[in-house]
Amino acid sequence: MSSTDATPAEDMLIIHGGTPLEGEVHVRGAKNLVSKAMVAALLGTSPSVLRSVPAIRDVEVVTGLLRVHGVDVELDGDTLYMDPTSVESAGVEEINVHAGTSRIPILLCGPLLHRLGRAFIPDLGGCNIGGRPIDFHLDALRKFGAVVDKDADGTHLSAPNGLHGIRYELEFPSVGATEQVLLTAVMAKGTTELRNAAIEPEIIDLICILQKMGAIIKVHTNRVIEIVGVDELKGYSHRALPDRIEAASWASAALATQGSVFVRGAQQTDMMTFLNVFRSIGGAYEVNDDPNEGGIRFWHPGTALKPVALETDVHPGLMTDWQQPIVVALTQADGLSIMHETVYENRFGYTSELRRMGANIELYSDCLGGTPCRWGRRNFLHSAVIAGPSKLHAADLQIPDLRAGFSHLIAAMAAEGTSRVYGVDRYITRGYENFEAKLLGLGAKIERPTSTLANRR
Ligand code: EPU
Repeated sequence: MSSTDATPAEDMLIIHGGTPLEGEVHVRGAKNLVSKAMVAALLGTSPSVLRSVPAIRDVEVVTGLLRVHGVDVELDGDTLYMDPTSVESAGVEEINVHAGTSRIPILLCGPLLHRLGRAFIPDLGGCNIGGRPIDFHLDALRKFGAVVDKDADGTHLSAPNGLHGIRYELEFPSVGATEQVLLTAVMAKGTTELRNAAIEPEIIDLICILQKMGAIIKVHTNRVIEIVGVDELKGYSHRALPDRIEAASWASAALATQGSVFVRGAQQTDMMTFLNVFRSIGGAYEVNDDPNEGGIRFWHPGTALKPVALETDVHPGLMTDWQQPIVVALTQADGLSIMHETVYENRFGYTSELRRMGANIELYSDCLGGTPCRWGRRNFLHSAVIAGPSKLHAADLQIPDLRAGFSHLIAAMAAEGTSRVYGVDRYITRGYENFEAKLLGLGAKIERPTSTLANRR
């Protein structure tokens, strides 16, 4: 474990591994839709209602950002009420309280420019899985007519001549930059044509929300989205689509621990690529499409798992956020598997901890097993070869980011012995609702260090 890490000792989960996870978990709305849907509420002239909102820290962060801008936000169970009728500018200091906590502030630019004529964006946070530049965002905003000034505090934007529709092609189908263009174009003057757009299910759900608000958005073939700007949008009422990253995380945990987990809320249509991979590895699943109690049961078949060659990609390809839990499951497959990461340049950092647990994983800078991608030319270690099956043993683990963190939890649950996983409060709670209660419900043998329990009383 890294000796330089500043994670407090009590931010730790003790995991006694080797027990198959068995039972049911419920996934609520997708983190990567809910946070954007909250930003969209800023564009309305009347209140919005968002249902199936998970209790995760990213929702708290965006709630804080909306509140400092005068939006009245109330949570009742898993329903969020957002009233933006009194939107107002916030001070740099108030906004900077949220600096470094999330990537969402960058998406407030368009809505704030429309509502107030100016915006201030603090330094961004989010997981450290690559450079994560925002050049596409700022380039598009400038083309819409925004004036962007960076200073030591953060980024100030204004739109002295209003925002006007653009024709724009993304260099890469970035999820965030596509959302930026959508949230800005819906109320810009004239029509916007976005080429090479991302079309992830969360983006389509955001488009559904904007359409409910009164926007005119056409999704054409070949990643082209056309948006006809309108003068006014109203509030919306919407149920967030389920979190397909969380669903895949529990599915992989079932496979790696030789268990069986019913993920209530998981939706087949959003997970087709994952389901194909799960079956290729040898995992079993069954879809229950009951509208209320439906979901997908995932289980280990009891026979050896098969190695596979995979690469991550934008939708409809294999999600980069599915990569880490799948790699843990592949440490148990019988033979050599390949994972080529094409979305982020630095998303295999977590494998060094898995290696310490006995996994046999080597990283390469070549584009192994598939299409050459932009990282191969630039010498990033972005391909992994996993030789299995490996008997994993317990270790002390330091979580480096959200998705890697959950894969550490899975590895510790699959391993023989007692592991201590540091950074669970800091990272896992950002995107996994009630993960400790869910683990306990599945029969995982976990506990908190005594000092934490004492503090919590
Ligand atoms: N990129 C640029 N310039 C930009 C924007 C992106 O070069 O201005 C590059 C990125 O560096 C990356 C690629 O484009 O190499 C894709 O990034 P994208 O913009 O699609 O990612 P994002 O919007 O920042 C969202 C999710 C991520 C998820 C990615 C890919 C949210 C809040 N985050 O990030 O989720 O991995 O899309 O699907 O929606 C997570 O949930 O743990 C997470 C990291």
